[in-house]
Amino acid sequence: MAAMEDLLLQSTNTTTLLGTFVILLLLYLFAPSFGPQRREPPGPWPLPLIGNLLQLDPKSPHSTLHELHKKYGPVFTVHLGPKKVVVLAGHKTIKSALVNHDTFADKENLPIINDLKLAHGIVFSSGDSWKEMRHFALTNLKQSGMGKRENEEKIIEESQYLIDVLKQKEGKAFDTTQPVSYAVSNIICSFVYGNRFEYDDQEFRSMVDQVKKNIQLMGSPSLQLYNNYPRLFSWLGARKQLMEGSFANRKQMTELIKGLQETLNPQMCRGFLDSFLIRKRQLEASGNMNSHYHEDNLQVSVVNLFAAGTDTTSSTLRYGLLLMAKYPEIQDQVQVELARVVGSCQVRVGDRKNLPYTDAVIHEIQRFANVVPVVLHCASRDVTFQGYFIKKETPVAILLSSALQDEDEWEKSYTFNPAHFLDEEGNFRKRDAFLPFSTGSRACIGESLAKMELFLFFTSLLQHFCFTPPPGVTEDELDLTLVVGFALSPLPHELCAISRV
Ligand code: HEM
Repeated sequence: MAAMEDLLLQSTNTTTLLGTFVILLLLYLFAPSFGPQRREPPGPWPLPLIGNLLQLDPKSPHSTLHELHKKYGPVFTVHLGPKKVVVLAGHKTIKSALVNHDTFADKENLPIINDLKLAHGIVFSSGDSWKEMRHFALTNLKQSGMGKRENEEKIIEESQYLIDVLKQKEGKAFDTTQPVSYAVSNIICSFVYGNRFEYDDQEFRSMVDQVKKNIQLMGSPSLQLYNNYPRLFSWLGARKQLMEGSFANRKQMTELIKGLQETLNPQMCRGFLDSFLIRKRQLEASGNMNSHYHEDNLQVSVVNLFAAGTDTTSSTLRYGLLLMAKYPEIQDQVQVELARVVGSCQVRVGDRKNLPYTDAVIHEIQRFANVVPVVLHCASRDVTFQGYFIKKETPVAILLSSALQDEDEWEKSYTFNPAHFLDEEGNFRKRDAFLPFSTGSRACIGESLAKMELFLFFTSLLQHFCFTPPPGVTEDELDLTLVVGFALSPLPHELCAISRV
């Protein structure tokens, strides 16, 4: 009898065990928290320690990512050394990730950003401090007339200074970098400091030139190596150079800030910097000593606005002039349209709707230049996105170039083709995959200002000059290669600005 009971007990135990196993198996296969949700995004097989680094083209890492996107789809993983990065590609995936929720709005804490003490301000910060600084900068941009009449006047005035400098070149070949960067930088200086600088002001020149160098160094292969293996590669010359350049730059900006602080008049706000100082004083006077309006946020926000507002826009504009020299028939068509619609009058923002071809050319310059091909964000929490599990704090690379060069979206993706933005009747047409400023809660805050600058500088220059290759260089020989940096920029080159008036 006892043996019988033992047998029954044993068989019940086996049945219970089996049953539990089957339930667990079913849960594993079908329950959302165990099964498919934990699926990691696919990607190339990583080698120990170096991951997929050998596969990445150091001169154009975004191009390799673009190739991997074609193979692995819109959500995939690459290993940059020991670091796992999830890449989001294609305009639909990018929009659904960035527009619909805030999960991917944080920024990764890169070693070089910590070294440079740039984790405050707007561009590299996260959380409440980022939200407050971004909101404050955006509100100030809007109040200062971003995208409105006040800025239109400033840009028109600045383009006149630029035209004067180019006239002094008397049609001889010159490097476009400095005059164009100084003109563009003056627009952001007017917003931040409340005044422009002369192009021969040594302090101003060295600030703008240094920012350009820093941006180039930030995206250099050496710095990428350092960010992936900070302990091994902290000795690299590029890092040392960047640290020195960046701190020298910071010192200059601190001096400028000090000057404005000493002459601050709360009744007469000159720009963003004054506005910040006034807010800081108000909060301190009300006893709030723990606000986000502190010295670090002030300095880094100023550095951010200066750098982000200068290099991207000036590189795009310079690339546009290079493209005009390369494709004179397109330059001709822009000039014919400008002459027909505005004649020799100053072009105004309001004219844009009557200049569809010119508008299409400027959009195509931005698409083709692709100056910010990839931005690095970070997951702020565990998330399942398009069926793939992404762990909190995983770096997430947003491959904007995959939208701007998507072969399914653009008829001639790798050709400079203004028709991308024109319908059959020659009217301007918007395109969904046009995302040079990114999108969602982290999108560029200077979009309207940059668009206005590109339009007014470009049209004013083309009204006054024909851009051609230097003597002895054919149009075919002009090199359109872009150099990798934190943002892309054209290779050093010279052009001639032949006066038309
Ligand atoms: C052609 C010109 C420009 C391009 C292509 C461009 C593009 C971008 C892109 C792609 C981002 C990153 C968005 C992301 O992380 O998802 C960005 C961020 C930013 N841009 Fe621009 N930008 C341009 C001009 C400007 C200008 C003129 C300003 C000056 C106000 C500016 C200020 C910023 C700032 C402060 C951020 C950081 C926003 C944040 O992290 O919340 N940009 N820009």
